[in-house]
Amino acid sequence: MEKLEKRTLKAGTNLRGEVRVPGDKSISHRALMFASLARGKSQISGLLQGEDCHATLNAFRALGVQIDSRDNSHLCVHGVGLSGLQEPANVIDCGNSGTTMRLISGILAAQPFFSVLTGDQYLRKRPMRRIVEPLTQMGARIYGRDQHSRAPLAIVGGALKPIDYSSAIASAQVKSAVLLAGMQTRGTTTVFEPHLSRDHSERMLRYFGVPLESFPGGARVTGPVELEGRDLVVPGDISSAAFFLVAGLIVPDAELLLKNVGINPTRSGIIDILRLMGGSIELLNEREQCGEPVADLLVKSSSLTGIDINGELVPRAIDEFPVISVAATFATGVTVITDAAELRVKETDRIEAVCSCLNQLGGRAEPLADGMMITGTGHLSGGQVTSYGDHRIAMSMAIAALVADGQVTIEDTSCTETSFPGFWDLLNQIRQD
Ligand code: S3P
Repeated sequence: MEKLEKRTLKAGTNLRGEVRVPGDKSISHRALMFASLARGKSQISGLLQGEDCHATLNAFRALGVQIDSRDNSHLCVHGVGLSGLQEPANVIDCGNSGTTMRLISGILAAQPFFSVLTGDQYLRKRPMRRIVEPLTQMGARIYGRDQHSRAPLAIVGGALKPIDYSSAIASAQVKSAVLLAGMQTRGTTTVFEPHLSRDHSERMLRYFGVPLESFPGGARVTGPVELEGRDLVVPGDISSAAFFLVAGLIVPDAELLLKNVGINPTRSGIIDILRLMGGSIELLNEREQCGEPVADLLVKSSSLTGIDINGELVPRAIDEFPVISVAATFATGVTVITDAAELRVKETDRIEAVCSCLNQLGGRAEPLADGMMITGTGHLSGGQVTSYGDHRIAMSMAIAALVADGQVTIEDTSCTETSFPGFWDLLNQIRQD
């Protein structure tokens, strides 16, 4: 078995400087996928070099797409069009990446060949029925473990029929999988969702020339469509910036400028939540880049207050709850997070993982069926925690370590490569101690 990396961190004060976070993970996946499905060349820059996006890149190479890598984050994708993909010679490994597996399933469901998708031990435990069900309704044949609900998934693709699909959960992965199948299918496919989930697929498909319609409560596409190759610049990932936003707020005497961060309203729940808690976050230099809003974020140490977080705010900050829980520990009063049962089926059960880590370090966090209740203790004593192999738990605990009284040891930290290569170096760079 591979040896798991372990790190011990001590408190830091006076965080200062400019931070450039890596490219947005959701946008990077889609850029690789849609450029592969487009006709002609697309140059992509600012792409996330994390392991998750490598899984998507390797998947499209396995499907016969030529992708030249100029340097680390600049790529040229030679798109093959919707009918140019080839049957892969081997099983496609999606690694830890739910986005790779679920979105590619939507693409492969309509392709006239056989493919198999698998992933690491964590991804193979995650629920796939949510995409298997609508894609099967459209006529795809998808087989998997546990009554076709878990990977490996075997897909026998082919001509599909359009559907109107009401998703029980606000999930961009479900919405995107159905739209990607729908855009290859003759007729109109519509997806309804209970709250608006991230809309990067809709924005980027339009950017590649697809006349996709978004409306309150969902999106629709009439297929078959064609995508035209386009050059694309990926903005910094707000989910990676979130760690430095929280650090900037809870560490005394901190002031950080986070450059070039995507602030798409379907992703910016973290800014709203931290501001509602009393955090000082300014948006500077707001602009639009390839259909996505972008800004620089200036964050300064602030006194925080606990709040209730639920409803439409939850999907808008779904990946940020581990680090929000660290902010809540350093707020006055109680923070109650509900309507967030989805956290139980992320890279790990993030409700149990976050509560166990915070309690282990001397905080007070109580799991709820669909969220958690965090009492602001204003301090953590320190100790040892595990990341549960989850990149966002590892990085959240690193932020907690900045303000803990004693040392914090985090076991299993190599998983940060999933979404944030260079995280530990960046954290060291902004420490002035
Ligand atoms: C993602 C959607 C979200 C998010 C994940 C990335 C995407 O998942 O948690 O990290 O890129 O579409 P769900 O669709 O399961 O909510």
